[in-house]
Amino acid sequence: MARISEETINEIKLRNDIEDVVNAYLPLKRAGSNYVGLCPFHSEKTPSFTVFPANGSFYCFGCGAGGDVISFIRRAENLDYPGAVEFLARRAGITLVLDDRDAAQQKKRRRTLEMNREAAAFFHACLNDPALGAAGMAYLRDKRKLSMALIRHFGLGFAPDAFGRLTDFLRKKGYQDYEMADAFLCGVSRQTGRNFDYFRNRVIFPIIDVTGDVVAFGGRVMDDSVPKYLNTSDTPAFKKSRTLFALNFAKKCCAEQMILCEGYMDVIALHGAGFENAVATLGTAITPEHARLMKRYTKSVIISYDADEAGQRAADKAFRQLGAVGLEARVLRMNGAKDPDEYIRSFGADAFRRLLEGAFRLEGILRNNDITTTDGKVKALEALENVIAAAPSAARREIYIGIVSETLAIGADMIRRDVEKKIRSSDRAQKRAESERIILASQGVGDRVNVDFIKNPQAAACEEKILGILLLHPEYLTKALRENAAPPPEIFFTAFGRKIYEQMLSYQGENFDISRLGESLTVEEVDRLTELRMRREALTDNTEALLSSLLETLRGATRKKELSTEELIRQKREAAQKKKNQSSP
Ligand code: UTP
Ligand code: MN
Repeated sequence: MARISEETINEIKLRNDIEDVVNAYLPLKRAGSNYVGLCPFHSEKTPSFTVFPANGSFYCFGCGAGGDVISFIRRAENLDYPGAVEFLARRAGITLVLDDRDAAQQKKRRRTLEMNREAAAFFHACLNDPALGAAGMAYLRDKRKLSMALIRHFGLGFAPDAFGRLTDFLRKKGYQDYEMADAFLCGVSRQTGRNFDYFRNRVIFPIIDVTGDVVAFGGRVMDDSVPKYLNTSDTPAFKKSRTLFALNFAKKCCAEQMILCEGYMDVIALHGAGFENAVATLGTAITPEHARLMKRYTKSVIISYDADEAGQRAADKAFRQLGAVGLEARVLRMNGAKDPDEYIRSFGADAFRRLLEGAFRLEGILRNNDITTTDGKVKALEALENVIAAAPSAARREIYIGIVSETLAIGADMIRRDVEKKIRSSDRAQKRAESERIILASQGVGDRVNVDFIKNPQAAACEEKILGILLLHPEYLTKALRENAAPPPEIFFTAFGRKIYEQMLSYQGENFDISRLGESLTVEEVDRLTELRMRREALTDNTEALLSSLLETLRGATRKKELSTEELIRQKREAAQKKKNQSSP
């Protein structure tokens, strides 16, 4: 893989202070020489997310996410390493210099994106030109009732009913026919070998990614002909299965909740009605990649698909997909309209908001319990309080409490006290689960990053100490390499340890750090390295002598046989038994 030069990375980090970058995503408060805030990567009520400006790193003591400004952006913007570097370079106004092959690819990608931008401007101008786009304007504005502001906001356009308008336009802008064909803006005629516009006589929906680039287009017919939509096919620069329509807008306001729709028109209608946290997949069923992407941006998803049977089946599938990545999801059921677009047009934004705000859940509970009997009333109250306690904001809880208090004729104060009690106990349960997870992780149980840890915890712990010291003092390794005394990667027994160590070795002579290693690591692996370095940083002895003795220990430990799984389980059971015996009187 082509590497971005060390100077460039340093320059990028120098010009992107981590506290400034992070502060744009979550408000930070000063705590001594560091900053703290609520972690954007897991749900928490007391801040454990810490930024260390001194070494440009962050670490969350709650969920273990950590790294530098690059890995922060990888997570926050859901970008890969080169993407995050590019993002930060752009933020700081730096031009990236890459090696040849990479540069050529990068150039092609940028050129495609620039061409797409030109095409989007062309389509938009056509829509606004009565001579070319009257039909498109009549459709979007008059038939679909979109405001001009909304049309502009989404950059909607129109592809004229002709074969060569876009081709001619792009040629004049200096683009080659093959470039247009590669970008799926044009097809090539089998008979004449000439280009023809791919989108004709369709209204155009540009697809814009989170960094603001126009990556694709959807084009809808204005009558009942088929196919209803034409879409840009996948290219190396664009993957349908990883892209969400309108995420470029939604990303700013979806931290608590995101609305997932089926169609472009649903999303546009929702944004128009003030629900700017709505997104849609691009004509495909939701993929695991979509689910993971959404998880980067939000805590819970409301699936708002079409009301017909196909839509509801798809909604149930989406529900499972989202659950599989640990996202809280809910399916919104609508009555009286076929999709969110129609619902809003028929009943208005407030009605949709009521649907969303869970009032319908309260109503459902009230319907299902006979509140004229004491028993029914008690049951309903219990269920209602659970719903209220789970509401994501205090304001919303107050609204619900008001409704319930009125309906059941019970004092609001009393309900509020019950709800607060429920919240406290669920907080405690969450804290307990979290600390259990941390303890288990520290013992290597359920360790997904260093999966071999459990096979020989002693050796693995030793390895991690070694890696931590090397991260603090890369010069130890440089020196050992110079003296031909660097240990071979084989002494590392976990695949994780070996991989990291091999990466370190590959920087021969050049200094490595977490930023540079991160290029070939997952964000979870970067988390772990950050944690390892932090653990060593907190200790005073990180000398070369300690490193040597750890290497000795590791050699000894890996010579011992790896434990079999049965042996491992037996040992754990024995240890647990022993503990039990000790604690019983
Ligand atoms: P819908 O048929 O529900 O369309 O398809 P829609 O967006 O709600 O449009 P209206 O309201 O009927 O005008 C949902 C999504 O499926 C994809 C599109 O992304 C569309 O927004 N789709 C649909 C296609 O890609 N191709 C098609 O032929 C049809
Ligand atoms: Mn639809």
